[in-house]
Amino acid sequence: MSNIQDKVVIITGASSGIGEATAKELAARGVKLVLAARREDRLKNLQEEIEKDGGQVLYKETDVASHDQMEELAAFALKEFGKIDVIVNNAGVMPLSPLHEKKIAEWDSMIDVNIRGVLYGIAAVLPSMRERREGHIINVSSIAGHLVFPAAAVYSGTKYAVRAITEGLRIEEASHNIRTTIISPGTIKTELLEGITGEELKAAIVEDSKIGISPANIARAIAFAIEQPEDVAINEMIVRPTVQEL
Ligand SMILES: NC(=O)c1ccc[n+]([C@@H]2O[C@H](COP(=O)([O-])OP(=O)(O)OC[C@H]3O[C@@H](n4cnc5c(N)ncnc54)[C@H](OP(=O)(O)O)[C@@H]3O)[C@@H](O)[C@H]2O)c1
Repeated sequence: MSNIQDKVVIITGASSGIGEATAKELAARGVKLVLAARREDRLKNLQEEIEKDGGQVLYKETDVASHDQMEELAAFALKEFGKIDVIVNNAGVMPLSPLHEKKIAEWDSMIDVNIRGVLYGIAAVLPSMRERREGHIINVSSIAGHLVFPAAAVYSGTKYAVRAITEGLRIEEASHNIRTTIISPGTIKTELLEGITGEELKAAIVEDSKIGISPANIARAIAFAIEQPEDVAINEMIVRPTVQEL
């Protein structure tokens, strides 16, 4: 018996890349989806595509950096589907730059989306999961949550933070029967590099990223974590292109 069909799953950052691929993978496995991101037109198109294939999907325009909007997202999922089995805190931004360039607004956006967004996602779903003594919180970190690269000091800082927060959550919530998973992708072909504002740096990173693999591979890893029996928690996974050295 599959432990994934009919689960209610919230995915943040579902309008592109890993979030969009995860939505398609989980919909095909019979999950009831609640998709979130800021670009509503993209969510609407994805909803239409998934519904055409017989999937069940709702969406809500949401900025993960807003605590109020994240609480509203969880309330929407509870109202429409009656429970939240899983949240995939996937939304993220990566405007890389060396520290001396002092791109303070870009640092702030990474802290707001990559750290605050994950914390607000946890806060929004934890009360109902604790009440049911059941639930699964999946946070997307990165290989940059294990290693630091030039121009990635702040981005890596946010992704190390995601791992620390998720491990803290695991320890605190184990006795409440809540599962946690950290997913750390290597190089994946998505729109993430678009956020880099330094043209030379962007060109170099685009070149390095040619080895990137499809986001569908991360979607399958997420589905694998969800489909395990309830007493099994896949706590951490690194998924790289085979040819990626770092
Ligand atoms: N691609 C890689 O190589 C790679 C490697 C390791 C880890 N990751 C991580 O994977 C996650 C997904 O990234 P991706 O590669 O799929 O990039 P992507 O295609 O750029 O997707 C990022 C998603 O995050 C959403 N987002 C950004 N800011 C948001 C906000 N304030 N509120 C709500 N949603 C927001 C975007 O939607 P809207 O703009 O519509 O809001 C978009 O759907 C990120 O956490 C990233 O750090 C990616």
